[in-house]
Amino acid sequence: MFPFMAQGHIIPFLALAFQLIKTNKYTITFVNTHKNINKLRSSLPPNSSFNLLEIPFNSSDHNLPPDTENTDSVPYNMVPNLIEATLSFKPHFSKLVSGLVSEENGQRKPLCIITGMFFGWCAEIAQEFGVFHAIFIGGGGFGFACYYSLWMNLPHRNNTDSDGFFLLPDFPEASRLHVTQLTDYLRVADHGNDAFSVVLKKVLSPWKNVDGILINTVEELDNIGLMYFRREIGRQVWPIGPVLLSTGSQARAGKELGISQDVCKNWLDSKPCSSVLYVSFGSQNTIAPSQMMELALALEASGKDFIWVVRPPVGFDINSEFKADEYLPEGFEERIKISRQGLVVHNWAPQVDILSDKSVSAFLSHCGWNSVLEALSHGVPIIGWPMAAEQFYNVKLLEEKIGVCVEVARGKSCQVKHKEIVKIIELVMDETEKGKEMKRKACEIKETIENAIKDEVNNKGSSTKAMDEFFNAALTMRESTIG
Ligand SMILES: *[C@@H]1O[C@H](CO)[C@@H](O)[C@H](O)[C@H]1NC(C)=O
Ligand SMILES: *[C@@H]1O[C@H](CO)[C@@H](O)[C@H](O)[C@H]1NC(C)=O
Ligand SMILES: *[C@@H]1O[C@H](CO)[C@@H](O)[C@H](O)[C@H]1NC(C)=O
Repeated sequence: MFPFMAQGHIIPFLALAFQLIKTNKYTITFVNTHKNINKLRSSLPPNSSFNLLEIPFNSSDHNLPPDTENTDSVPYNMVPNLIEATLSFKPHFSKLVSGLVSEENGQRKPLCIITGMFFGWCAEIAQEFGVFHAIFIGGGGFGFACYYSLWMNLPHRNNTDSDGFFLLPDFPEASRLHVTQLTDYLRVADHGNDAFSVVLKKVLSPWKNVDGILINTVEELDNIGLMYFRREIGRQVWPIGPVLLSTGSQARAGKELGISQDVCKNWLDSKPCSSVLYVSFGSQNTIAPSQMMELALALEASGKDFIWVVRPPVGFDINSEFKADEYLPEGFEERIKISRQGLVVHNWAPQVDILSDKSVSAFLSHCGWNSVLEALSHGVPIIGWPMAAEQFYNVKLLEEKIGVCVEVARGKSCQVKHKEIVKIIELVMDETEKGKEMKRKACEIKETIENAIKDEVNNKGSSTKAMDEFFNAALTMRESTIG
């Protein structure tokens, strides 16, 4: 397994690795650069059977700051350099695969190579050594289909109507998108003239050469996005999700809880069934200072019980201390503490524990795919506030195609007023027609997901079957190349 060097990419790989290790059928070798391997080592259980291999990399050779090996330490405008730098891995990766193949004396050569989405170029090397190769997309099918189509075609550059709407030329089934659903770098991307679109085109094109694509999603939820990849890339696509880390493994992956699981559980236990709003924008995102004020006012005015995971707002170091007296309305934390209306959690909350609690009614989320899968697995409807990357299209899927979400705001610069937020909270959490319908849908989806991962002899779900098919394809290739 060889993921791109970003936490959002490494964590789904880790989750997939844990899932495979549990079957006792596979051994796993994780490949990455020195610093990422070190970090991984500390997030694995002490007796784990993972092999860890390093690929040589010196960021100074690639117009990057010294010792930066992960998007979390590279300034965003330099991420294209980091992606471009990965193309220099080719000879090293070739040597590494060559070593694995000969080491096993040809008898037990690697069954398959699974790489990150920017490492489609590994297909060439895998083919040379006769090893099956797939890329693994940790995000959703629909979201990444839009993302892929946008970067490959940049349709908003010359095809937008006067209101800012446009269609994806090779994906009309997605229906129209709006320019506010593009991150800044994508909005200004220009055919061949900006670093992001140049490097992304370079690394996404080789998808057409891979043996197949594993996607962290469920066939029944995401058939439009999966259809796009099957049609446009023309490769095998296996939806094997949801692949998620357990709470225990999240803790090992360096997520420091801002609240103990017991305190959280006791607070939730004191609340009525289906009464609590859970609010979190994930580990890598935050909102603007004015948005944070409006959201605080809205939560208080709604009168709903809530758990809010906070990070310093845009313009402050996201990992610095949270200053409530500066970022939140005067006396906010004090008031909600006394009234027991809300819990403000600094840093990180036990998200899966919260979403699985019967007192939780809805989730206000940035709609990163992990959060989406965790909410849907527990039948929790979503209030969407997408921030970046493909989150905008995740919301579109959830709202327009699945019907378990209402979008409340979009991005870090929109002017959202607390009264509008309150309206959406009431729409979703009160017994409105729309709210009841969303809840019913969310419960239906929960069942769909439970069925997809069933693994009984005569009753295998779609995700289990897809995983079986993937390994069968890899085995067939290995048998045909060991003569
Ligand atoms: C690793 O250790 C844990 C706890 O000590 C144990 O539950 C688990 O079975 C061990 N795993 C292996 C592969 O030995
Ligand atoms: C990386 O390259 C720079 C510049 O060539 C050099 O000074 C530095 O020692 C190298 N770092 C390592 C870890 O080799
Ligand atoms: C948009 O412009 C690009 C590059 O100039 C061109 O290749 C593409 O066909 C155009 N698309 C449309 C829909 O006009």
